[in-house]
Amino acid sequence: MSEFEKLVGARFSCRAYRPDAVPRAALEKMLEAARRAPSACNQQPWRFVVATDAALRARLLDEGTLPGLRMTWATTAPVILVLGIRKSVITHQVAPLLSKVDYPLLDLGIAGEHAVLQAAELGLGTCWIGWIRPGDVRRIVGWPRDITPQALITVGWPVSRPERESPRLSLDETVTWR
Ligand SMILES: Cc1cc2nc3c(=O)[nH]c(=O)nc-3n(C[C@H](O)[C@H](O)[C@H](O)COP(=O)(O)O)c2cc1C
Repeated sequence: MSEFEKLVGARFSCRAYRPDAVPRAALEKMLEAARRAPSACNQQPWRFVVATDAALRARLLDEGTLPGLRMTWATTAPVILVLGIRKSVITHQVAPLLSKVDYPLLDLGIAGEHAVLQAAELGLGTCWIGWIRPGDVRRIVGWPRDITPQALITVGWPVSRPERESPRLSLDETVTWR
């Protein structure tokens, strides 16, 4: 198996973290991997806040997430990465009028997953959280109105791996060869 295949297999959504801090150098590596992601017209619309402060993390989870999904596990994560989009006029507001493609959201997803895979390579666990209240997250992190939060990613040292991998659709179910 190639190193890349092993890395893809190592990543999972981690929902239990040890309390140990994550070294700043590890977080910087994750952000550097995100920074090098491709983006439509190279607009690099991603913006990040690295929340390590306990009070800030608690507010993000208490006030910045929606009810209904049990996410108490997220309080064990020593770091929460906040992911947002800063839209440009031409690529992100004019071009999608013609194409209907959400370029900045695609770009942010790629950048976020670069960070996640870098984390996995360092032995760190992560979990995307999309069940958020963007307006509240913006207020909590102090972003201006032109930056819109889209997701959180918890980061920390995993307690363990789930015994079973989450199921995936087969290639036959998702791919058509023409
Ligand atoms: C964009 C996105 C949003 C997600 N939002 C949440 C969430 O709000 N809460 C949660 O517990 N997991 C969330 N997840 C994790 C998924 O549930 C998980 O990736 C999926 O079940 C597959 O499991 P795996 O990541 O362990 O392979 C999200 C994942 C993505 C990519």
